[in-house]
Amino acid sequence: MELRQLGPRGPWVSPISLGSTKFGRHEGVKYPKSFALPSDKQLIDLLALAKQWSINLVDTAPAYGTSEARIGALIGADDHWRMATKVGETFVDGHSHFDFSPAAIRASVEHSRQQLRRDVLDIVLLHMSDDDVAILEDGAAIATLLELREQGLITAVGASTKNVAAGLMAVELCDLVMITLNPADQSQRPVLAAARKAGKGILIKKPLDSGHHGDVGAALAGLVREPGVGSVVVGTIDPGHLADNCAAVRRALTDE
Ligand SMILES: NC(=O)c1ccc[n+]([C@@H]2O[C@H](COP(=O)([O-])OP(=O)(O)OC[C@H]3O[C@@H](n4cnc5c(N)ncnc54)[C@H](OP(=O)(O)O)[C@@H]3O)[C@@H](O)[C@H]2O)c1
Repeated sequence: MELRQLGPRGPWVSPISLGSTKFGRHEGVKYPKSFALPSDKQLIDLLALAKQWSINLVDTAPAYGTSEARIGALIGADDHWRMATKVGETFVDGHSHFDFSPAAIRASVEHSRQQLRRDVLDIVLLHMSDDDVAILEDGAAIATLLELREQGLITAVGASTKNVAAGLMAVELCDLVMITLNPADQSQRPVLAAARKAGKGILIKKPLDSGHHGDVGAALAGLVREPGVGSVVVGTIDPGHLADNCAAVRRALTDE
């Protein structure tokens, strides 16, 4: 799989990447079935398989329980891997908490550098609440991330948005955006079009509607062929699903 540059500053990433919510959190999630967190051995094997298929990006967040710490311990030292993480949301005692103050963002970035065992974080996204427009209008959160980027602690900054208006603002302000796009939810298409036009990076979250969409191969094939899409972040802890997803993406890109 050929790597694609994610916006003006990069990094270069595989068209399909690994979503890691299920690596570290099984409470307060919207997947169709309950599941046990993978063991270290299962995660090591999953990450090795992903690497064999040329996946080089893993998406994580402080709000995904032990996900960041596990990724850092297992692949932090491996230069093959690019990592996207987030700021603004934490998940404590079964509840999400949001803090987009400059102090909280600086502390979160410092914590992620330690957890992921990286001096420079490849991608840091604002992990938006429903108030995403207000957070971007306020300006302090994105200004803090841009400052950290200028200090060399982050390569590219972005926002994982919810509302179209916030997505459009993020396209203007950031290097990349992360948006939901799947057969059941096409509402973010205006953001996709704006990001493509502006040459900004695009990450797709929930490409399978968090496991509620059945025709997996067709959904992934459509998304990786979508002009402008940098990487489709698929959440899985099942090696069989991972191999099927990579094979579907490879077929789609070979047929193109
Ligand atoms: N606000 C945000 O920033 C935000 C929000 C949501 C998600 N994300 C990111 O985006 C990633 C992806 O989103 P998501 O995890 O919510 O949903 P998703 O990728 O749309 O779907 C993941 C679900 O689909 C299942 N699945 C994967 N491949 C499959 C296959 N071939 N056949 C059948 N089932 C399959 C997985 O189960 P198995 O484990 O059994 O394969 C899992 O339950 C997340 O992990 C996270 O990194 C970000």
